[in-house]
Formats: sequence, C-alpha cells, structure tokens
Amino acid sequence: MTGMPPPVPSKDYARQYAALLPTLLPELERVLLEEAPVLGASVDAFEREFADYVGTRFAIGVNSGTDALVLALRALGVGPGDEVIVPANTFIATIHAVVLVGARPVLVDPDEATMLLAADAIDRARTRATRAVIAVHLYGALAPMDAIRTACERAGLALLEDAAQSHGARAHGATGACAAGAFGDAGCFSFHPSKNLGAFGDAGIVTTSDERLAADLRSRRNLGKASKYDVRVVAPNTKLDTIQAAVLRIKLRTLDAANARRRAIAGTYRDALADVGDLVLPTAPSPEAHVFHLYVVRTAERDALKKHLARRGIRASLHYPIAPHRQPLDVDLGYAPGSLPITERLADSVLSLPVSPELTDAEIERVCAAVRSFYDG
Ligand SMILES: Cc1ncc(COP(=O)(O)O)c(C=O)c1O
Repeated sequence: MTGMPPPVPSKDYARQYAALLPTLLPELERVLLEEAPVLGASVDAFEREFADYVGTRFAIGVNSGTDALVLALRALGVGPGDEVIVPANTFIATIHAVVLVGARPVLVDPDEATMLLAADAIDRARTRATRAVIAVHLYGALAPMDAIRTACERAGLALLEDAAQSHGARAHGATGACAAGAFGDAGCFSFHPSKNLGAFGDAGIVTTSDERLAADLRSRRNLGKASKYDVRVVAPNTKLDTIQAAVLRIKLRTLDAANARRRAIAGTYRDALADVGDLVLPTAPSPEAHVFHLYVVRTAERDALKKHLARRGIRASLHYPIAPHRQPLDVDLGYAPGSLPITERLADSVLSLPVSPELTDAEIERVCAAVRSFYDG
C-alpha cells in the first residue's frame, strides 16, 4: 500500500503529557523542593482526594494494582487453604494475586453478553473453603454489584473489587450512587500509565471504609510496621511514591472529563458500527456504569480484521488473547482446555479498538471507516 497515512495509536502518552505540562511542571518542582520523597504530603493528599472521589472513608496508596490486590487479600485474612472465586475473563494479575497469598483461585466463566462475573456463578462455585470473591470491573464496565454483594452477604464471603480498569464507573443501586471501589470490603486500583487514571510509572491504591482494614493495609504496605520500630507482620515494601501521588493529584482533576471523552468515542463507534458484519459491540446497563478503559468488540474474523486495520496504520489490540488457565504458568491452576468455554471463546474473538481520550475525532472516524471497509470487501 502506498502513501500510508499516519498511524492511529491505541494510546499516546506524549500527547497526554504535552497537554498537562503547564499544570504539572510547577507542581512537580514544588514537590521536589518541599516534600519528603517517601510518604510525602502529596501521598496523604492524594489518598484523601481519591477516597472522596470513590466515596470511601480511606484509600491506601501502594506500588501497583497487583500489590493492592495481594495486600487487600492478606488484610482480609485470605491465605493457604482458602478458595477465592475469580472471573476467568480477567487480566492475569487478578489470578496471580490469589496464588501469591497462597490461596486457590476458583475460576468461573463470565456472563457471555456482558463478559463480566455474574452473581449466580458465585452460588455455583462456592464450597466450604470459599473465603472471598473478586469482582473485576473489566474493560471499564461495572460488574452487577447489587446482585454480587447480595450473593456474598448471603454466603458470608468477603468481597473485593478489582477496579484496575474502571476508575470513575458508577451505578445508582439500592443504596444510592456508588462508584467502582466502594461496593465491596475493599477496592483495588491500578494506576499503570495505560489506565483511565495513570501515573508516570507503576502505582496502585486500595479503597475501603473499614477503619481496621485501612490501618492494617497501611502497615502491610510498609514492611508490616505498626510504627517506626514496631513490626507486627511480615510484609513487602510497596508504598505509593510521593512523585507519583503528585502526578495522580493533577490527573484526578480531569478524570471525569477524560471518561466523558471515552464515552463520546464509544458513542461514535456505536453509531458507526451497529449492524456492521458480525460485530458484537459492548453494552452497559447505564451510561455511567462504563468508563471504556477499552472498547472491546467481538467478531469471528478477529485476526483478519486486526491485520486489515494494521495495514491502514490502526493499532487495535487484544484483551486478552490467551485465557489465564491456558497460560503456561509454573503453577497448575487445575483447569483443562475447554473447561471454561465462554472465556476461551472470548479469547478468540475480542478486539480492542482505540478509545484513548487524546485521540482526535478524525482518527476515530478513520477507525470507523477502516472497520466498515473490511466488511464491505
Ligand atoms: C484487571 C486488572 N487487574 C490488575 C491489574 C494489575 O495492575 P498493575 O499492573 O498496576 O499491577 C491490572 C493492570 O495491569 C488489570 O487490568
């Protein structure tokens, strides 16, 4: 193909930071000159602001979303001999966290329409050893939390949310408006740079309204220290860096606007791609319940469509092409090929179209035209 047009990336950090520089640079200068590098004032401030944003009493900053999950599981008392119900259609870190605390991940197929955990799967997978459930708000879409919370309460199970992909997703449930990270005993967020709220490096946070859990998490992120020379549990050093907290404070101010832009892009895709070929487009029970971390379509012709887009400079990606139980892990999760058929079908058919807020309308129109041209032949 001659005269290849400029690429449409799946995300563009330089564009994102170019827009932020005027606000970010003076604040970073202030932090470097005035604050402690470790657990500086920006960490406290960000934890308060993020807890307010989510609607929990506390937020405890850590070094990654994976560590947020590991620490929250440990703080909830989950360990060897325990089972944790986890949707099989998730990023591998959700499952790693369960294995890392010595518990057994019990993988369940998602609801095929939503691609998310359904409450009835909890009742079917529960045994006497089940201690907790991790509800993953995958792709930015809230899992059905009223029903999941009811199922957990009925069975006396701890409820953890993996909100790594869903900062700002909200629902108006039985108890009023509630955000991702505020439904369960604790919410675990990643601030990996690719996320809707991303640091300039690895970072994460746990949200909770349980004061005891919050104190325990503060100790567990800091080598198990109860105070400077008083160490009560064996735990890693996984604190949120002051400099990352400073970046996150600035970006939190524009998170709702960035999520609105993602929803607008999703609206353009919906209008342009409904009824095109065999495409199945993502849905949400309400507009606020989806923050489109990813715009995941499904098609039987996934690999051919991805190649067609790549030839036109459009970067579509896969979340995720290998189901977790089909990974060649050094730990046997105990699930044979074919045992989680919905998850396996998703792995073969999902394709993520670019949805980053920094992309222009013209770039999104190019994606729409390129997808339509694939089906028009
Ligand atoms: C659903 C999900 N869970 C957990 C994680 C782990 O987060 P991190 O990469 O910050 O460790 C991620 C992101 O990478 C994720 O998307």
